[in-house]
Amino acid sequence: MSPSIPKFKNPRAKYNFQGRTCSIAGVGAYVPSRILTNADLEKMVDTTDEWITTRTGIKARHIAAPDEFTSDLAVKAAERAMANAGVTADQIDMISVSTITPDMPFPSTACLVQSKIGAHRAAAFDLEAACSGFIYGLEIGQQFIMSRTYNTVLVIGAEKLSSIVDWQDRNTCVLFGDGAGAVVLQNRPDSHGLLTAVMGADGRKADLLFMAGGGSRCPATLESVNNRMHFLRMEGKETFKSAVQAMQTAAEEALRRCEVDITRVKLVIPHQANRRIIEAVGERLGAKPEQLFINLHKFGNTSAASVAIALDDAVQSGLVQRGDLILMMVFGAGLTWGAALIEW
Ligand code: ACO
Repeated sequence: MSPSIPKFKNPRAKYNFQGRTCSIAGVGAYVPSRILTNADLEKMVDTTDEWITTRTGIKARHIAAPDEFTSDLAVKAAERAMANAGVTADQIDMISVSTITPDMPFPSTACLVQSKIGAHRAAAFDLEAACSGFIYGLEIGQQFIMSRTYNTVLVIGAEKLSSIVDWQDRNTCVLFGDGAGAVVLQNRPDSHGLLTAVMGADGRKADLLFMAGGGSRCPATLESVNNRMHFLRMEGKETFKSAVQAMQTAAEEALRRCEVDITRVKLVIPHQANRRIIEAVGERLGAKPEQLFINLHKFGNTSAASVAIALDDAVQSGLVQRGDLILMMVFGAGLTWGAALIEW
């Protein structure tokens, strides 16, 4: 059955409605069982629940076990998304894993996931766009679906950030958590799915948020480890300002492309980094507070997994119904940013 003509104009309509769509056929998420609360952090660094809550909105984050790796989190989220979509491993054509905390530099975490879930036909690769990785993954997956190269694509965002957080640095250790989220993208002609995705980057601001050690520039040495170069570092204030600006611009571009007014969006799902960032972006976009989905109090910033976990949480909570418009936007190291408009 051909899809009906949509209620709004959409530049992608040209090929959306030649019998091809990029639907989110299934969504799933997983977070490790161990919860680290603000009270726990008070015992580890010079901080308070009051500071963390008022500056970020975060109350707790989930931390993976020592023998639980990014690929393990990714597999659990992927299996839930596949079950939700009613898709088996042999149907999957491509797997992308967005992460800044791969199990190891190579082989890719996506290859490890491919093996663990038994998707032996699938092409597999990792994608590094920091906290923006999941939206980058959606856009790349969409291109393969719309070009008719592949029919079923698994897009995963997964992080074990606890492995690169400096647990002695109160500026950053209170912010991050571990987890994974995944979606199955498919051509399902009876629904619309991903309408547009925006991606952006500005490498001139690479020094706002980085991990210096472990690459070709600074391989691991006794000195690099002693200098704590294998942990992430962030200029919080500048990152904050850039995040608000970039997410606003990306979200406006996605809305403009589809000629959709913010009032028609059911749920805005921003990157879950900081409650104040989300509220500032929401205000600039003209979104009402009840349109903003926030779950960072439970999970902290899970980087590439953040909006995928939030999407799953929103769906599980019954906040989105078929036909609702969802606006997602992200921001992260690079700098990178992105936005996606989805018809559920
Ligand atoms: N507990 C108590 N005090 C703290 C803590 C803490 N955990 N962390 C910092 N402070 C202190 C600072 O040392 C500073 O003290 P000083 O004034 O004596 O120097 C003071 O609190 C204020 O620090 P600010 O930097 O002004 O705090 P701010 O209000 O900017 O909040 C924060 C800091 C939460 C990091 C904020 O800037 C932020 O969220 N930035 C954006 C982070 C982000 O969005 N990252 C996204 C990308 S993540 C990725 O890609 C992996």
